[in-house]
Amino acid sequence: MERTCLAIILAAGESTRMKSAMSKVLHPVAGRAMISHVVDALASASISDVALVVGRDAEAVAAAANTGDVAVTALLQKERLGTAHAVLAAREAIAKGYDDILVVFGDTPLITAAPLEAARDGLAAGNDVVVIGFQAADPTGYGRLIVEGDALVAIREHRDASEEERRITYCNGGLMAIDGRKALDLLDRVGNTNAKGEYYLTDLVEIVRSLGGRAIAVEAPEEELTGCNTRAELAYIERLWQQRRRHELMLAGVSMVAPETVFLSWDTALAQDVLVEPNVVFGPGVRVESGAIIHAFSHLEGAHVRAGAAVGPFARLRTGADLGANSKVGNFCEVKKAEIGAGAKVSHLTYIGDAFVGAGTNIGAGTITCNYDGVDKHVTRIGANAFIGSNSALVAPVSIGDGALIASGSVITEDVPADAVAFGRARQEVKPGRAPILRERYKAEKLARKIAKAAE
Ligand code: UD1
Ligand code: CA
Repeated sequence: MERTCLAIILAAGESTRMKSAMSKVLHPVAGRAMISHVVDALASASISDVALVVGRDAEAVAAAANTGDVAVTALLQKERLGTAHAVLAAREAIAKGYDDILVVFGDTPLITAAPLEAARDGLAAGNDVVVIGFQAADPTGYGRLIVEGDALVAIREHRDASEEERRITYCNGGLMAIDGRKALDLLDRVGNTNAKGEYYLTDLVEIVRSLGGRAIAVEAPEEELTGCNTRAELAYIERLWQQRRRHELMLAGVSMVAPETVFLSWDTALAQDVLVEPNVVFGPGVRVESGAIIHAFSHLEGAHVRAGAAVGPFARLRTGADLGANSKVGNFCEVKKAEIGAGAKVSHLTYIGDAFVGAGTNIGAGTITCNYDGVDKHVTRIGANAFIGSNSALVAPVSIGDGALIASGSVITEDVPADAVAFGRARQEVKPGRAPILRERYKAEKLARKIAKAAE
C-alpha cells in the first residue's frame, strides 16, 4: 500500500537577514513567490496534504502558498523559537497519523520532486529520520552533517560547531523526513540549550539515535537545496533557476542564441522551434508557438505569439497582446490588449492598444491607436487587408473596414467603411516663391529683438 505523507513547510521566520518589509518567502523567483515554488515541488511529488507554518506576514504568505494546485493549510507559530518549535505548530495534523512527515523550508525554492522522494524512500527502507544533505561550495551558515559509515550521527549548526566541524562541507539542506508514528515524541524531546537558544529541528538526529533509532543522510545536488537568507542569495537563486529553465527549454527544442541573456518567468511557455535572440525578457503569462522568432531586446508579458510570428527587435508586448500566425510586430512597437490578425504587419514605431487588427492588414510607421480619452479606454477595430498610412492617429472608439486605405498623417475620428479611402488631415497648400520672403522677415525680426535687448 502507498505510504501516507504530510508535508510541513516552515515559513514563519523573521527574514531578518533579508532586510525587507515583507517575509523573504514572498520575494519572487522567476516572477513567482518563493513559497509557491516550494508548493509546486510538493505537488510534483504527488504530496497533497500540506501544512504551512506562518508567522510574519501570515495572511500574505498563506495566500501565496495557495496559488497552485494543492490546498495548503496555514498554521500560526506565535513565537519564533526555532525550527523544531515551528514543526510543532502542526501538532494536530501530525497526530492524525501519517507514515511520513516531510519537513521542507519555505526559503529553498529550487527544490524538486527527486530529493523529496529520496527522503521518503529512506523512511520506507526502515530509517526513522532521513536528512537531505549536499556538498556545499561554501558551507558557512549551514548545519554540518556528521556521518559515521552509513549513519548520520548529528547535525551541528554553524554557530555551535567546533573549528574542526566547520571544515565539514557536507551540509543540511533543511529537508527532513521523519517517521510519522514517532515524530511527535521526538519533537517533544528537543531542548534549546545551544548558541541561539532555539529549538533546533536538527537535534532530532541525536535524539532518535539515543533512543536506538536510525538516522541517515541522502545526498542531493547543492543547487536544489540552496537557501535564501539575503538579497544576494536571492539573486543567486534567480540565476540558478534561470539557468535550469533555459536548459530545459533548449532540450525541448527552443533555440537561444545567447541563453544567459534571456530571462524567463515561471510560466513562460515556448514551443519547439521557437528562436529567441539575445537580451529578451519574458514577464509572466507568455506563450509562444512553434516557429515564431523573438528578436533581440524585446520585452513580453501576458502575450500569446502564434506560430511563425515575428516580434522585435525592441518590441514590447503587454498583457492581452495576441499575435496571429505569421504576423509581425517590429521595432519600437508596443501592443497591449489587442489582436493582430494572421499575416498582419505592425512594423515600426507604433502603439496598438485595445484594438483588433484584421488579417493581412498593414499598419504604417508611427501609427497610434488613441485608446484613452483621459477618463476611459476605447476600442479600435481595423478590418482585414486594410492599409493604415504612416503617422496616423486612430481616435477610439473607431472602426475601419476591410480593405480601407487611410492616408498618412490622418487623424481618424469617425468610422471608415470597407474599401474607402480616408484623408484625415488638411490638404497640402503650396505657395510658390514664398520661402525667401519669409526667411528675410524672420531675419529682420531676430535683429530687432537683439537691438531691443541691447537697449534694455
Ligand atoms: C537551517 C538549519 C540548518 C540548514 C539550513 C539550510 C536548523 C536549526 N538549521 O538553518 O541546519 O543547514 O537551514 O538552509 O534547522 N522558521 C520558522 N520558525 C522558526 C524558525 C525558522 O518557521 O522559529 C523557518 C524559516 O522561515 C525558514 C526555515 O524555518 O523557512 C529555516 O530557518 P532559518 O532561520 O532560515 O534557518 P537557517 O539558519 O538557515
Ligand atoms: Ca535558511
